[in-house]
Amino acid sequence: MTKVPTCRIDKLLASMGYGSRNDVARLARTGRISCDAVKIFDVTKRIPVTPDLPTRMQVDGTALDPLSGMVILLHKPLGMTCSHKEDGALVYDILPDRWKRRNPAVSTVGRLDKQTSGLLLLTDDGDLLHRIISPKRHIKKTYRVQLARPLDGTEADLFAAGDLMLHGEDKPLAAAALDVISDTEALLSVTEGRYHQVRRMFAAAGNHVTALHRERLGGLSLPEDLAPGQWTLLSHDEIALIFQ
Ligand code: URA
Repeated sequence: MTKVPTCRIDKLLASMGYGSRNDVARLARTGRISCDAVKIFDVTKRIPVTPDLPTRMQVDGTALDPLSGMVILLHKPLGMTCSHKEDGALVYDILPDRWKRRNPAVSTVGRLDKQTSGLLLLTDDGDLLHRIISPKRHIKKTYRVQLARPLDGTEADLFAAGDLMLHGEDKPLAAAALDVISDTEALLSVTEGRYHQVRRMFAAAGNHVTALHRERLGGLSLPEDLAPGQWTLLSHDEIALIFQ
């Protein structure tokens, strides 16, 4: 039988961004924290951290945020940066403000450029993050690409060869698959995540990417009903799809 971990309530809620331990103690003193509909006044007590805790514990009458180990699927809109500290609009601004104070921190799983939209994962699970971005896993990322000039028919072979060298790099790209949709639109599936990779691949083919959108990561697709700027938490089964 696996032992359920326990944690002091003030430590748990502080790690989830509800404030410092003193802030959490203050919340409790004024009756704002409850578990199984019973008010908690002493936050120095340990509590079993079971997966159902968010449905049993409430702060200010609202269910507790997800416990650590969460995976967020965001439909990244254009114009937002995947960074914790750059100026301008950041993808983290879309999530609840409290989540910026979580420990372990919520981070993007790899990055999309400011002018790329589509499927972006964020997680506070460092092991999972590394498993997804590890080049050894060869997880396929599929992008819908709009181009400035018509494809000339040589691109699929160029990308599939596995010997394309990008400007300024010393290792060729792994083979990538191109599905042509029209003269100026294609789906490109790559297994690496090099800097500006897709834009640079088309630049190497003498073209220019005018719009870039990530549709899939492994076997996980961006849901059609998830509008730009919207996000959802992934279930275990949905997380498993990434590795299929
Ligand atoms: N390739 C790019 O050029 N940009 C992205 O955002 C993702 C892949």
